[in-house]
Amino acid sequence: MKYIDIHSHVLPGIDDGAENWDVSLEMLRQAEQDGIEEVICTPHILSQSDFDREEEILSLLGELKTRARETGITIRMYPGSELYIQPHFQLEKKIATLAQNGRYFLIEFSMSMIPDFVAKKFFELILDDKTPIIAHPERNASVLSQPDKALSLVQRGALLQINAGSLLGRFGKNVKDVAHKLLDANIVHFIASDAHDAKSRPLKLSAAFHYVQENWGPEKARLLFYDNPKKMLSAQDIDMGPILPLEYRKKFSFKNTLSIFKKQ
Ligand SMILES: [Fe+2]
Repeated sequence: MKYIDIHSHVLPGIDDGAENWDVSLEMLRQAEQDGIEEVICTPHILSQSDFDREEEILSLLGELKTRARETGITIRMYPGSELYIQPHFQLEKKIATLAQNGRYFLIEFSMSMIPDFVAKKFFELILDDKTPIIAHPERNASVLSQPDKALSLVQRGALLQINAGSLLGRFGKNVKDVAHKLLDANIVHFIASDAHDAKSRPLKLSAAFHYVQENWGPEKARLLFYDNPKKMLSAQDIDMGPILPLEYRKKFSFKNTLSIFKKQ
């Protein structure tokens, strides 16, 4: 099985991801061995002024492609970014949408809440044919206590990307449980690595793929790790079929939520 990873911090020295070229190349080597064949490089864009680094980011990507090719790595890489939600963010820059497809963009909230302006902002963007992909909603305290908040954003047209590590328990039991619930409700559209390094948060997807395959079946696993990312790359529509009931029975644990902040 081959995978496409839509969320990674593999570019060196630009954010809290890979520290240097050696780490970037080691991450890519691991990814290739893991079965990943395409990767979108999504450095954090924390404010509109971070977009001023677009040329630097594109140049780093160009150099990473060259260095990867020279060492025999054949993974295809694309530009992108992980935008931090703000009331007036723009999507005009080349790295604003993933793989420059002009439609899908990756957006993250703070770990603690979903701002009130999000619903209105997403509504305006979706009317303009832009589709938000919410990065790791399962790690957001507001979604942890009320998963139906993620559901309501999906009902308005947003898509969800959960982290491979969340499903495997890396961020604690509450995060894993919510990731399960979102998958059960059929409102997860992508699973990505959100890789930051070659050790604790690597560029790997196969373990999570097998986990999804065992628990939700091979068809769904293929959709989340390959078919939906492939469609997204060429700006095609993504349809997961009907939404199922979201039954969240676990009690919210403040202690477990604190553990998420520690691991950021
Ligand atoms: Fe990320």
